[in-house]
Amino acid sequence: MDKGKFRKRGVDYPIFDGTRTLPGKYYHSEEIYEEEVEKIFYKFWVYACRAEEISSVGDYKLIKVANESLILVRDKSHEVKALFNVCRHRGTQLCDKPKGIFKSKSIQCPYHAWTYALDGKLLNAPLMKEGHGFQKDDCALHQASVHIWEGFVFINLDKNPAPFEVQMEALMGKFTDWKIDELRIAHHLRYELNCNWKLILQNYQECYHCPGVHPLLTELTPVQSAQHDYSKGAVIGGFMDLSKDGGSMTMTGEAAAPSICNVSGDDLKRIYYYSVFPNMLLTPHPDFVLFHHITPLGPEKIINDCYWLFRPEIINDLKAQAGIKSAVEFWDLTNKQDWKVCEQMQTGTKSTRFTRGFYSGREDILYQLDLELLKALGHHNTD
Ligand code: FES
Ligand SMILES: [Fe+2]
Repeated sequence: MDKGKFRKRGVDYPIFDGTRTLPGKYYHSEEIYEEEVEKIFYKFWVYACRAEEISSVGDYKLIKVANESLILVRDKSHEVKALFNVCRHRGTQLCDKPKGIFKSKSIQCPYHAWTYALDGKLLNAPLMKEGHGFQKDDCALHQASVHIWEGFVFINLDKNPAPFEVQMEALMGKFTDWKIDELRIAHHLRYELNCNWKLILQNYQECYHCPGVHPLLTELTPVQSAQHDYSKGAVIGGFMDLSKDGGSMTMTGEAAAPSICNVSGDDLKRIYYYSVFPNMLLTPHPDFVLFHHITPLGPEKIINDCYWLFRPEIINDLKAQAGIKSAVEFWDLTNKQDWKVCEQMQTGTKSTRFTRGFYSGREDILYQLDLELLKALGHHNTD
């Protein structure tokens, strides 16, 4: 499959050593964070959950998008809905358990028992008569838009969202060979981190730090092999070459499982790294797919949920468990190495002595990410 055009990092690209980083306030300021929430998290398509997590009618999962809580639920027509977790009576949060099933196939407010269908429609408001401006049909739960791509449920909180395909143009058709919609979660780890959400995206898009921070990763994928995607916009990334034929990112460097379905040719030798701005990192390997879901809890705090997706037959094969474990251990080790430097950067950039740093040519994608951020915020001047 044509994966598009790539360029060598720091080479053949109109960005040179000396490009400056964002000022430290972009990682700490409450005001800038609130602006990001309004202009990015409430405007862009954001990753919410895997469709498999809510596979049956009534299954739900709560997710947070900045300050909002949403109920991702499978309704009676098997569609996924993203309902604001806010009762239309007096605003009580409807649900506080992180996931489960609405056994009654309805959602009841714990306060005065207003009851909603799984698609959000108000079914019953005890002792309330319609009239004086109150109409049940006008009191459905508010909803976000939903788009499912390769089994990933994305939502958009904007009342008039831009088309999903426009924001995600660079992803369209790129990883079809992995049949990611058929993959299933083999493992999940949650990390709570004291750093700004952007530091995680930045860290993920450069391997300038790899020789010092990730000795094992550097053995498995040489830093010099990193290439960028030429695509522009909210999806940005590239790949690195595996040093071992038939290998993968595991503790031993051996594949964790047979390569996935139609993955072939160069893709058998590459690890792809894509930032799906603003809250997802996507890492297709020849034999599995790793992804991160970033949930900001403020300018200096995030939850990072990391998932390992494998073919279902591999997950169900007892003999394959060692391979899965090796992939999980490798990425857990690598993640923790990354989180440590991200938290240290969060602290360091708060110093009054930190103004703006200098990007190397190997960090050109970070500069591109900064430009995307500033464009979304409408900031022409960062001072
Ligand atoms: S606040 Fe929900 S029923 Fe009263
Ligand atoms: Fe890293």
